[in-house]
Amino acid sequence: MELLQPIVQRRAARAFSGQAVPREILDKLATAAVLAPSCANAQPWRFVTATGSALEELKKALSDGNYWGKKAGAITAVVTHPDWDARLDHSRDYAFFDTGMATMNYQLQAIHEGLLAHVIAGFDVVKAKAALNIPENAVLLALILLGYEGSAEHLNERHKASEKAERSRKPLDEVFAYDAWKTELLPKAKE
Ligand SMILES: Cc1cc2nc3c(=O)[nH]c(=O)nc-3n(C[C@H](O)[C@H](O)[C@H](O)COP(=O)(O)O)c2cc1C
Repeated sequence: MELLQPIVQRRAARAFSGQAVPREILDKLATAAVLAPSCANAQPWRFVTATGSALEELKKALSDGNYWGKKAGAITAVVTHPDWDARLDHSRDYAFFDTGMATMNYQLQAIHEGLLAHVIAGFDVVKAKAALNIPENAVLLALILLGYEGSAEHLNERHKASEKAERSRKPLDEVFAYDAWKTELLPKAKE
């Protein structure tokens, strides 16, 4: 269980304190991210971390539902492009896969440093790219909101409850199999 600790501890928490994240800590997260494996060592990930005035500009791109992100102490944009990594037969485009692995390293190091780290897709891509000067053809996949834990007072009731709620996961039986595929692995039709 000890090995799982940072993995268990990481969760999509929203109660940021508003305190800035020091540059030397952000540098450590970057070092962890780039140690991820990638297909033929293509390293297709690119990260742009917003601090200072860029952070304030980037926060204007957050969706209404992600209002809580206004208190993030830094935000890292996760960028890639399918052409920046191997594109093999049978839909095996590795840029997104490899960038996801680097993003997980980044988050786990953030947890180790005593931060909260919450990945989001809910933002205006055009505004976010403009805030950070990210080229139009690059894919801005996600933002990683970073910060220290603070009071949950500014959260709505649903988000307050979710801070300490039980983790919600599909049963292992629906996502893992041994030796052969089984029908339970097919996603269930949405109700
Ligand atoms: C690609 C991606 C996009 C997400 N977008 C949002 C978002 O816009 N807003 C939000 O509150 N949470 C977002 N989340 C967080 C997920 O809702 C959360 O990870 C999931 O419910 C599981 O909870 P856990 O991370 O605490 O285990 C996103 C997560 C990922 C990986």
